[in-house]
Amino acid sequence: MLEHDVVIVGGGLAGCRAALELCRQVPEINLALVAKTHPIRSHSVAAQGGIAATLKNVDDQDSWEAHAFDTVKGSDYLADQDAVALLAQEAPEVVIDLEHLGVLFSRLPDGRIAQRAFGGHSHNRTCYAADKTGHAILHELYNNLGRYGVTIYEEWYVLRLIVEDQEAKGIVMYHLLDGAVQVLRAKAVMFATGGYGRTFNTTSNDFASTGDGLAMAAQAGIPLEDMEFVQFHPTGLYPAGVLISEAVRGEGAYLINSEGERFMSTYAPSRMELAPRDITSRAIATEIRQGRGIRLDGRVGGPFVYLDLRHMGEAKIMSRVPFCWEEAHRLAGVDAVHEPIPVRPTVHYSMGGIPVNTDGQVRSGSEGLIAGFFAAGECACVSVHGANRLGSNSLLECVVYGRRTGAAIAQLLPARKLPAINEAQYLQEAHQMLQELLDQEGDRRIHTVRQQFQDTLTEHCGVFRTQALMEQGLAQIHQLRQELTQIRLDDKGKLWNTEITEALELRSLMTVGEVILTGALHRRESRGAHSREDYPQRDDSQFLKHTLAYVSAAGIDVQYLAVNLSLFEPQERKY
Ligand code: FUM
Repeated sequence: MLEHDVVIVGGGLAGCRAALELCRQVPEINLALVAKTHPIRSHSVAAQGGIAATLKNVDDQDSWEAHAFDTVKGSDYLADQDAVALLAQEAPEVVIDLEHLGVLFSRLPDGRIAQRAFGGHSHNRTCYAADKTGHAILHELYNNLGRYGVTIYEEWYVLRLIVEDQEAKGIVMYHLLDGAVQVLRAKAVMFATGGYGRTFNTTSNDFASTGDGLAMAAQAGIPLEDMEFVQFHPTGLYPAGVLISEAVRGEGAYLINSEGERFMSTYAPSRMELAPRDITSRAIATEIRQGRGIRLDGRVGGPFVYLDLRHMGEAKIMSRVPFCWEEAHRLAGVDAVHEPIPVRPTVHYSMGGIPVNTDGQVRSGSEGLIAGFFAAGECACVSVHGANRLGSNSLLECVVYGRRTGAAIAQLLPARKLPAINEAQYLQEAHQMLQELLDQEGDRRIHTVRQQFQDTLTEHCGVFRTQALMEQGLAQIHQLRQELTQIRLDDKGKLWNTEITEALELRSLMTVGEVILTGALHRRESRGAHSREDYPQRDDSQFLKHTLAYVSAAGIDVQYLAVNLSLFEPQERKY
């Protein structure tokens, strides 16, 4: 059995930042980081527009209180305000620390870190590295892990989280290279496994964002929080769905409908293109629904609107958002210096996740914690984003809460021993599960079932939702679940058997998708990214509370958790 003081699952920003903190605070630590891809291929590397922090480099009127207020208002008042306060207060320090690590932030002429406008933020506070911010940060963090001697298990897929008697003891993992299975025990387990954008058919997320960590936590009896809040980023490139950063609008681009109108004046006149994402995505979806979308041949009534950068000029486009120009050119054949970019909303981010406190400790329910289990980043719900995240707050959450979680684990370690684990039993169960998968004799193919599932969730739980639509979607998912046992794998071998991981990822997707739909059905109101046409108003009297969904063989049980409202009174949200 493998043994480490701490195992972190996930090689993105939250995992790497927690690892760095552990190495700084406990230099002698025996730390493992497990990732199903190479860490620098984690989805954090694709983050573009920036990281928010009140450095006040371009706006000395900014303050952590203003950042906190914008975040809480953006969240439609569902964020936990104690967690938001920490996020905003610690932001400048973590960004300066990243700079000291060597992150190549874009600069003002006087050499200080540049800051740009972003949706829902009342001040220019988003620090950036052109439009490759995640790439710049992740590479530096990862380099530092090498320096500290962290053991990296790359391309290992975690099959199971071991929780016994409300205590996390380790993981069971599978090596993509050769099919080896190992049990790893540790004094503390941390998940930083990212999001689940691949539950939908159009997403900015990478292929690995399949919600495995969330599904494993749910299978271990841990509730999932606020999963119905799925963020649609307004400007996914049409038709690929990849991200065209909000930084493009932060730098001045316009959204235009088929009438040539800057239609955001109807939906958010004070913020225009820089309204929060839930509002901007609904606005685009409404324009398209009402026939003011555009077709590829330029005719009206099509499935996208235009993002127009032309007035910004080539020099600004190429220096501030060169990657977005390149994406549009490479994937849509559009030269954004001279032509508008076709865009429409794309699934981008999961506000919900594994419930944690502000030290990253995983909750077992509305009260109580799972001993030795921690989570941070997109797979966790602390909850700083509530019902709708503001752009450039997610990299920040990864770094602030990655650091906090690493520090909390460091404090805990002296009091923890390596747990006793029945290794033989876990190995036997894992081998049996894998063999049963290989032996399945159906005629269903992974990609067909996955596509049907993704189409179902997209059609039945998209930007706009109704009870009837979601009930149909849930019934279809229950049907598709039956088909999991009829999937046939062609590859029966052990070497690089990607069919095995794809089949397991499909199970994760289905678990997560069912929780999303169930939480959405139960929440009979509209709040943030959850927009119900049959309940169009926010209903604080009944639903100013977090959803906690428990998955079991009997179905999904929905309970609730109070929201921390320690800073700001909920108000009507206007922009
Ligand atoms: O649009 C973007 O660059 C995305 C940023 C974010 O999700 O924080």
